[in-house]
Amino acid sequence: MDRPLEGVIRRFEESFARRPTHAAHAGGRVNLIGEHTDYHDGFVFPAAIDLRTAVAGAPREDGVIRIRSTRASDEAQARVGALRIPVVVDWRAYATGPFWALGEKGYPVCGADVLVDGDVPLGGGLSSSASLQVALVGLASSLAGAALPAPEVASIARLAENGYCGVPCGIMDQMASACGREGHALLLDCRTLGWEAVPVPSGWALVIADSGVKHALGTSEYGRRQQECAQGLEVIRRRHAGVRALRDATMEMVQEASGELEARLVRRLRHVVSENRRCLEARDAMLRGDSPQMGALLAASHRSLAADYEVSCAELDLLVELAAGMAGFLGARLTGAGFGGNTINLVASERALLFAETLAESHASRTGRRIDTRVVRPSDGLSVIQV
Ligand code: GLA
Repeated sequence: MDRPLEGVIRRFEESFARRPTHAAHAGGRVNLIGEHTDYHDGFVFPAAIDLRTAVAGAPREDGVIRIRSTRASDEAQARVGALRIPVVVDWRAYATGPFWALGEKGYPVCGADVLVDGDVPLGGGLSSSASLQVALVGLASSLAGAALPAPEVASIARLAENGYCGVPCGIMDQMASACGREGHALLLDCRTLGWEAVPVPSGWALVIADSGVKHALGTSEYGRRQQECAQGLEVIRRRHAGVRALRDATMEMVQEASGELEARLVRRLRHVVSENRRCLEARDAMLRGDSPQMGALLAASHRSLAADYEVSCAELDLLVELAAGMAGFLGARLTGAGFGGNTINLVASERALLFAETLAESHASRTGRRIDTRVVRPSDGLSVIQV
């Protein structure tokens, strides 16, 4: 049995003094490139990773849902059919949201005892919340006897995050967490939800570095970027009615619209249009094993996120700068929403461990502050088992 499941099953038994009937685990994720493009119907290139959220559960006859977590001291309680959108969005909202979203979509939901466990760092931009919600949708649907395909799990998990937790995220994190494939990154079209699993060359390793700055999507500038882009899109659509989302826009269209837009909004649009193109180029570079090109694309992505989309911060910029001179370095950029969280470093495999250590050391000697760095592996997405 998978290692994360053995642990969560044992802890479920300790906590509830009964045996779980089902268990599931889902991946945190890194995004290689294609940032702030998913909610513009664009392309993204993420991978599920071996930092996981694991859950175990057993049905209850009385319609009560009790959720405990090894990472929290309190318990989430709810009743099937009586879940209301919460006023306070804490971990309990994230834990009960999947049950609400399943009900909203018309799927059966039953009472349950559930235990949550996992090692995805919280608030680090590695999709701790998406992996929790994907794992719980997978578990809850199986408990109620209606196991669902992974993309449907992802869309229900997104509904939980958008509609119940009030976080206006796109679909990338949930799709990566649910549909990831070992050794691969997913080139995902966020309009059609079609994806291609692209093998990560064996000579390339992924190293993440945690800036130590916690990000919270709901309270960040995330929603404001969406509004800014909506204003820009409106101006483009006056001339090009066929442009449904920024994914359909070109640099020429942005140029045309620039006379009617504040410079700041032009930069936002420029990021989205250029990032979409970089994402597709990165897929080609990875298929060719072209690390110089991939590195150049990651660098351009980070610059665009910092200067045009303005979602980086000094701590992330410093990590990207420190990495650039190190042995084994192929490329680096912030990963996820930004405003803190992690950078992703593409590194020659044989150097990966040493690179991770050296980056942490060089950061400590520059700032006096220790950070976490680690090698992560592209991994499978959601897995659900009957115990
Ligand atoms: C967060 C969101 C995703 C995506 C990224 C930025 O991770 O949850 O939907 O928008 O930010 O690419």
